[in-house]
Amino acid sequence: MAVGIFDSGLGGLTVRDAVHARLPDLALVYLGDNAHAPYGVRDAGDIHDLTTASVARLFEAGCDLVILACNTASAAALRRMQEGWVPADKRVLGVFVPLIEALTERQWGDNSPPREVAVKNVALFATPATVASRAFQRELAFRAIGVDVEAQACGGVVDAIEEGDMILAEALVRSHVDALKRKMPHPQAAVLGCTHYPLLEDVFRDALGPDVAVYSQPRLVADSLADYLTRHPGMRGADGEATFLTTGDPARVSTRATQFLRREIRFQGV
Ligand code: DGL
Repeated sequence: MAVGIFDSGLGGLTVRDAVHARLPDLALVYLGDNAHAPYGVRDAGDIHDLTTASVARLFEAGCDLVILACNTASAAALRRMQEGWVPADKRVLGVFVPLIEALTERQWGDNSPPREVAVKNVALFATPATVASRAFQRELAFRAIGVDVEAQACGGVVDAIEEGDMILAEALVRSHVDALKRKMPHPQAAVLGCTHYPLLEDVFRDALGPDVAVYSQPRLVADSLADYLTRHPGMRGADGEATFLTTGDPARVSTRATQFLRREIRFQGV
């Protein structure tokens, strides 16, 4: 038994690494659906079907708890999955809520009514499917009032990262930040709402400038998972080997992952 971490591709490795740093004894099984990435240009039905297929594989691999380390799946599929698909003895959690709890200065799991918060202007950078779902705004509205969110659909960035073309990815990030600033010249906070984007966090920070607080998910998700496991120790599973699975070509995916994380990662095919 282990905790499963799922993403459409390589981005969830940023979350996986932060979870491992925070909870080094926790056994983690990572699954990247690289054969079908990117998800961000697909429709919600397609994202739901692909996500459930991958999460089912993680259940089969012995995971009772799966983290969707993918905003696109969290935005487009998670609610539908939780309403009718996830078996009673399993749990699937997304990555939006920890981020929003941090943005709205809440304790993990605080379900009190929405209230005014310090931050008023938020820039959201995410995939086209996440932006179209408006899931971020919906989750935010449960917790905060009076926050203006300007969303920028960052087309092309995930494809460029999955292809290992970081020069193109950087150019696209800069142009998406420019486009956002034309709509909201002075955001107080910026949310990197795609788990691929922490790989370009320095570029986002540079393009946004020093006055913008950047919220990046990996550490926030790791902290919230640590809190969840303290409250639900049965979901933790036994200690075990770290495993990396992919629906794509294991050799190619291993090379890219090694390049991004600057240490050797070996994926196995599913
Ligand atoms: N890393 C993902 C996310 O957080 C998915 C990107 C994609 O496949 O388009 O949204």
